[in-house]
Amino acid sequence: MTRASGCRVWDEDGREYVDYVMALGAVALGYGHPAVNRAAEAAIAAGVVGPLPPVSEEQLAEALAERIPWMERIRFLKTGAEAVAAAVRLARVATGRDLVLGCGYHGWLDWCQGAMEGVPAGVRALFAELPFNDVAAARAMIRERAGRLAAVVVEPVVVTEPTREWLQLLRTETERAGAILIFDEIKTAFRLAIGGAVERYNVRPVPDLVVVGKALGNGFPLAAVGGRAELMEAASRTWISSTLATEGVSLAAARATLEVFEREAVCAHLHRAGTTLLHGLHELQRSYGGVISGVAGIAEMCFLHYSTEEQAHAVALAAAKRGVLFKRTAYNFVSLAHDERTISETLDVLDQVLRNVGG
Ligand SMILES: Cc1ncc(COP(=O)(O)O)c(C=O)c1O
Repeated sequence: MTRASGCRVWDEDGREYVDYVMALGAVALGYGHPAVNRAAEAAIAAGVVGPLPPVSEEQLAEALAERIPWMERIRFLKTGAEAVAAAVRLARVATGRDLVLGCGYHGWLDWCQGAMEGVPAGVRALFAELPFNDVAAARAMIRERAGRLAAVVVEPVVVTEPTREWLQLLRTETERAGAILIFDEIKTAFRLAIGGAVERYNVRPVPDLVVVGKALGNGFPLAAVGGRAELMEAASRTWISSTLATEGVSLAAARATLEVFEREAVCAHLHRAGTTLLHGLHELQRSYGGVISGVAGIAEMCFLHYSTEEQAHAVALAAAKRGVLFKRTAYNFVSLAHDERTISETLDVLDQVLRNVGG
């Protein structure tokens, strides 16, 4: 690609595409949103970085804490993987324990990998995968490790919505085990609601720590870990630092992004537009059941299951040839720039593509 604007991108031959990848969910307002760009340009003019902590760091932390009150204290980092790793470090410092249970994807760093080349066995031994939405497994796995468990880190939505029972159990059992409950809201914050799944599903008591990223900066590199003040204090007893963590451009972009989210009720738009897309995908499944074996995800982040890998590949390729970038696997994302008409045109393209692939 050479350029992106709104929900469209252009390749090096000048071809235009409607995009549903949306930088893997890092952009919810549309590419190059004017208000975000203006804020970023002002931050560039102001020098980007300097020798002292920028006022904009404090301002953004305050704005986030006001909107997401369970982020009482906040640390900014550049990537989601770094911010989740910071949350886990804080949990280990606070509990003096090592073991961690995780559910979902938490980035590429060593601490959360299963069997993967290049990750030392000693590191892998400290981590285990918790199955999503499985109450009995969660109870058993947390109780088995009680006394040694530092943290349970979960993505609150993994393809389907969480049950109230599972969310409640995670809270009760981590408290009982003396472990820290971390919600990895990198995909869900600034999408399901500004305050992510905790806000959307009214999770109470709230998790001890949450991690946000992706849409927070609308494409500018920024992530944050936040939570209970006394837990965040653990940061001063360990070492969490990144040279460019508080460069001003991303902080300014995130501040502007938050303002647009509030002013334009962005999450309501994402839900409406995503629901139109999801309904359309279900209709396509009814028409082309031989190719589409299932519709997965929720309105804000969804994808199709295909009968064969070859069909999945053929659909993605044919859709791209007709100017639609639609991901084969988790997830496709709508943005503020996806209007009803664009989504309807996309569904027409997918209809034509599926007719050809299926027939
Ligand atoms: C839930 C979740 N956590 C962590 C990450 C890692 O974020 P990053 O790729 O910015 O390091 C991702 C990225 O997809 C994610 O979806």
